[in-house]
Amino acid sequence: MATLDISSVLQGGYQHPVSRTWQGRRELSKSMFMYPIFITDDPDACVPIPSLPGQCRWGVNKLEQFLGPLVKKGLSSVILFGVPLNCEKLMIPQGPVIQAIKKIITRFPNLYIACDVCLCEYTDHGHCGYLHQDGTINTEPSVQRIAEVAVNYARAGAHCIAPSDMMDGRIKAIKRGLIDAGYGNKVTLMSYSAKFASSLYGPFRDAAGSAPSFGDRKCYQLPPAAKGLARRAILRDVGEGADIIMVKPALPYLDIIADAAELAPDHPLACYQVSGEFAMIHAGARAGVYDLRAMAFESVESMVRAGVTLILTYFTPDFLEWLS
Ligand code: PBG
Ligand code: ZN
Repeated sequence: MATLDISSVLQGGYQHPVSRTWQGRRELSKSMFMYPIFITDDPDACVPIPSLPGQCRWGVNKLEQFLGPLVKKGLSSVILFGVPLNCEKLMIPQGPVIQAIKKIITRFPNLYIACDVCLCEYTDHGHCGYLHQDGTINTEPSVQRIAEVAVNYARAGAHCIAPSDMMDGRIKAIKRGLIDAGYGNKVTLMSYSAKFASSLYGPFRDAAGSAPSFGDRKCYQLPPAAKGLARRAILRDVGEGADIIMVKPALPYLDIIADAAELAPDHPLACYQVSGEFAMIHAGARAGVYDLRAMAFESVESMVRAGVTLILTYFTPDFLEWLS
């Protein structure tokens, strides 16, 4: 075709499967995936979560048989969520997460263990912090408690603390707490820095029993349109001592991921492909809109393109299989 100008021709550059693998700045690898796991206080539980296909609430006695095959396939990190179900909300120090950390360390010494820290699974009202009489967040005792819990998880052997509460000042308080307890150089602090008030947390709240009993989380999670607040929160958390910055949810917030990559270029950057994103991809595949695997790849490749180095996703077991 004589009419095509030399500068118009791009297709020669990605004509082959191998040349296509060179088009990203970074290739997907198994260690980019961190697997979120729900730990409940019934030690023998493996209870499927209907809104999260293939995911269960696990009891501490079931962790070995559940994680063993995944570790064999190359699972390198998990993030634990405590789900104290049996009526009276358990005290965190005796809670399922501490037991799970200890179990995982002894059975899988090379597995990196992050722990989500928040109060919503443990408060009666289901909000992520303690409240004043008038229902507004009582920041100081919330932050203090969150820092205490973080230190407890560090003592139990967690490698990473990930506070998802969005209370002001918690990164500084946790970092201080970890340093003062002797864990400054032993534990990573991964901040859910830009966490938005999203409709995509529904299945997680079913799984964790953490839906607020009244109101919503809009006074602490960010408004979806708030690019400026997200940028300020990222810079704040870098200044307060975060070791890893996270954006959550992921796919609707790729611009925020790109902003974070620019604002915190010297930090690892994580994103959380949340429960609703996972459920949505499954639902679309079931409805015949696309192939599940192709869509899962497209979603995480987009996140890596936007700048992440770490992805928290319920697709982790699938990717361990697909990348083998
Ligand atoms: C609780 C918490 C939530 C998620 C992680 N930690 C829910 C929320 O903030 O309401 C969402 C994770 C997911 O949807 O997969 N602080
Ligand atoms: Zn919470």
